[in-house]
Amino acid sequence: MSTTDRTRTAVAAMLRGFTYDGRRAQQVEALDAPDSEEHILSLGAPAIGDAELPLDLTDDFIGRSARAWNSFVQEHGDLPGIVTVEGAGAFRIAKSGRASGDKTQSGGQPVAAERGSTMQGRIAVVTGGAQGFGLALAEEIAAGGATVALVDLNLDGAEASAADLNARFGAGSAIACAANVADNDSVAAMTDMLVARFGGFDLFISNAGVLRAGSVMSLSVQDFSLVTDVNYSAFFVCTKHASSVMRLQDAGYRARVAATAATGVTDNIDTLPAHYTTDILQINSKSGLKGSNKNGAYAGSKFGGIGLVQSFALELVEYGIKVNAICPGNFFDGPLWSDPDRGLFVQYLNAGKVPGAQSIDEVKRHYEKQVPLGRGCTGADVARAVYYIVDQVYETGQAVPVTGGQEMLR
Ligand SMILES: NC(=O)c1ccc[n+]([C@@H]2O[C@H](COP(=O)([O-])OP(=O)(O)OC[C@H]3O[C@@H](n4cnc5c(N)ncnc54)[C@H](O)[C@@H]3O)[C@@H](O)[C@H]2O)c1
Repeated sequence: MSTTDRTRTAVAAMLRGFTYDGRRAQQVEALDAPDSEEHILSLGAPAIGDAELPLDLTDDFIGRSARAWNSFVQEHGDLPGIVTVEGAGAFRIAKSGRASGDKTQSGGQPVAAERGSTMQGRIAVVTGGAQGFGLALAEEIAAGGATVALVDLNLDGAEASAADLNARFGAGSAIACAANVADNDSVAAMTDMLVARFGGFDLFISNAGVLRAGSVMSLSVQDFSLVTDVNYSAFFVCTKHASSVMRLQDAGYRARVAATAATGVTDNIDTLPAHYTTDILQINSKSGLKGSNKNGAYAGSKFGGIGLVQSFALELVEYGIKVNAICPGNFFDGPLWSDPDRGLFVQYLNAGKVPGAQSIDEVKRHYEKQVPLGRGCTGADVARAVYYIVDQVYETGQAVPVTGGQEMLR
């Protein structure tokens, strides 16, 4: 990624922070050139802060820009439509469109229908969003009025799913993006692309995951490494880049509030939150809470994920970023279990893993009986936990079980 691209990404995130009103921010889109001559704010050349970080700007540049932004708003009584930044290009501040307040369109999605405005106007990223839990979460989030980026290795699948969400919930509900979450350069490019399009994001769900079961004695080192790379290391890589964007949104927001306070105009400054609150969420597993027989690579990667969640939560709270995990039980209706050719039910039936079972239904019932609430976990169950975590601004570093009582916290 070139220095210019990184600077453009950092400036877009800062500008999005300027628009945060304590609950929502506007979309900020990077342009090749200004596409309007009205309401233009021009800022000087940005100065890069800590070069070790994926993204940074100096406090001096952020403070000067926030003061210029406030003067513009005072003079015009409105936000700038276009911001030009020396050496970083032009940025459109969206004042309409989905991100500035479309009504929730639940379209039969149960959680979005129950939960009102939690997701409205947010920008959300869901990795592994082409199918399974990721797609189910993206549906509930888009139905709640957010714009969702479906990030997946499988670009065709992500594009088809995004097209479906746009058809059901309105244009601008979803966008597809190819990335390998375990690859640092790929995640950096994905982050740049999304920030150039939206100015940043409010919710990053690290959901992409893989499972390679097997005995410690026979599982190959390659399979162990794949599971560790995608389920464990990728959470570090994604959090590294997502938190850099969120930190700059917060820096922009706080600089704008400080600049407003300095003018002596009281405004509603006392009622504003201290930070631009954002969420990083890991879709973990009940196997992150209890060991799993002949499935050690998976359980180990998920246990490790909770260690990262707790540690990142402690560090990132300084920037208003909450970090939490959700630990779902088995999603029997998803492709991992129910795919007719490669799903675990058909594999377990063929392998005779459930003594006496003659059909897929019998294998399924065997597993359902192990859940106190008597059924598998669904996307809606996990989405309820996502909505809860986003709503709950007074919690971070937690692992929330959604297991039907199968796994209980000690
Ligand atoms: N299915 C379950 O029963 C279950 C239970 C508990 C937790 N989980 C967790 O939920 C998450 C989603 O599981 P699922 O069952 O929906 O999986 P799935 O296999 O149905 O979907 C996973 C998606 O992630 C994508 N993906 C895989 N590797 C990737 C990579 N390196 N970069 C980008 N995308 C990648 C795949 O292309 C796919 O679209 C995983 O983290 C899994 O561990 C699943």
